Amino acid sequence: MSINRRDFLDHVSKAGLLGALGIGHGFPLIDDVNDVAARAADGHIFLSKPYLQAPSSNSMHIFWITNKLCYSWVEYGEGNQLNQKAHEVADGLVSAYNRVNNVKLTNLKPNTEYSYRVVSKEIKEFLPYKLTYGETITGDVNTFKTVDPEAKEVSWLVMNDIHDRPHSFSQLMKLNGAAPYDYVFLNGDMFDYQTDEKQLIDHLITPCTDTFASNTPFLFVRGNHETRGKFRRALADYFTSPSGDYYYSYQWGPVYNIVIDTGEDKPDDAPVYAGIVDFDSYRREQAAWFEQIAQTTAFKKAPFRVVMMHIPHFYSGDWHGTMHCRELFAPLFDKYKVDMVLCGHTHKYGVFAPEKGAHNYPIIIGGGPQEGRRTLIKVKATQQELSLKMIKDDGTEVGSYVVKRQ
Ligand SMILES: [Fe+2]
Repeated sequence: MSINRRDFLDHVSKAGLLGALGIGHGFPLIDDVNDVAARAADGHIFLSKPYLQAPSSNSMHIFWITNKLCYSWVEYGEGNQLNQKAHEVADGLVSAYNRVNNVKLTNLKPNTEYSYRVVSKEIKEFLPYKLTYGETITGDVNTFKTVDPEAKEVSWLVMNDIHDRPHSFSQLMKLNGAAPYDYVFLNGDMFDYQTDEKQLIDHLITPCTDTFASNTPFLFVRGNHETRGKFRRALADYFTSPSGDYYYSYQWGPVYNIVIDTGEDKPDDAPVYAGIVDFDSYRREQAAWFEQIAQTTAFKKAPFRVVMMHIPHFYSGDWHGTMHCRELFAPLFDKYKVDMVLCGHTHKYGVFAPEKGAHNYPIIIGGGPQEGRRTLIKVKATQQELSLKMIKDDGTEVGSYVVKRQ
């Protein structure tokens, strides 16, 4: 390992090391080269296939990771064409000499199928007045469809609490059979804690691209385990959301979705956090944000309002995270007539019907992470009905719920 590390250090040159790690577009967040998966000896290869993020009616983010520092772009076009090219530009600079790519395709047509492939050209030497390119590698052609802003229906699949068990992705996705779905939602605790880039690739990105993610986007919200470990801060460089933040909202068809990042389960001053979390104020910030969203016409007019968040504010004990979520969000969800809340966290699946004095909407909790406890949640909404089925990993249906439009 030390040889690889030295190779890598030589390759990127020590002076440019931090910036050269190529993480995101802003200030580099990773400051330990051991945390990245790049190994010079492995040559010029892709470390991940492309994965789609933050879909909209006119844009799509495409992420992928290379082993070497590159100039990378996406070739794409309507139907099966690849007649357009996109790369990222920031402050007059085309993103280059990086490995973790996030290229946003913009000005796309709504409800339209596109083909695309990713291309990465190695930068062998980056001198101030002489840049030397190496070989170019090209990914397979994949397709995606932009969101239909007029969609009358939407369906999506939810997985939660995978906890570093990469085989679970394909096993759970199989439970859907051949039924169509618009996207996948990952409802937190995909990992036990964040260690390094290799973990992100091996335990989430690759199992998702092997199953669906090069052609169908996924959205992700952190659980309380994604906030732990030395690589926790880098997560933002490998995934994005419609807002660019960990909490966000979006409308798809008849559903207005609100995604809340519920943070940690214990108080901020718990010794295990060593003084480096501040989730109370973050949750309050989200409650204020939720209240603003709830004033919008889109929220009010949508046939259905669904909240997705990792820690359920009921049925998950009485630790601080649960109780603080209950204090902040329970009154808002009732006041603004949320139709359904989807959670994980407890590792015990359940469907909890509305309960007077507590919550006027159903709370659905997906299970995990061991065999026999894992679930795939299938959600579908039409103009008249929001319906859900929860399938256990042996294929049996263990929960369902239907909300009729008011
Ligand atoms: Fe959790």
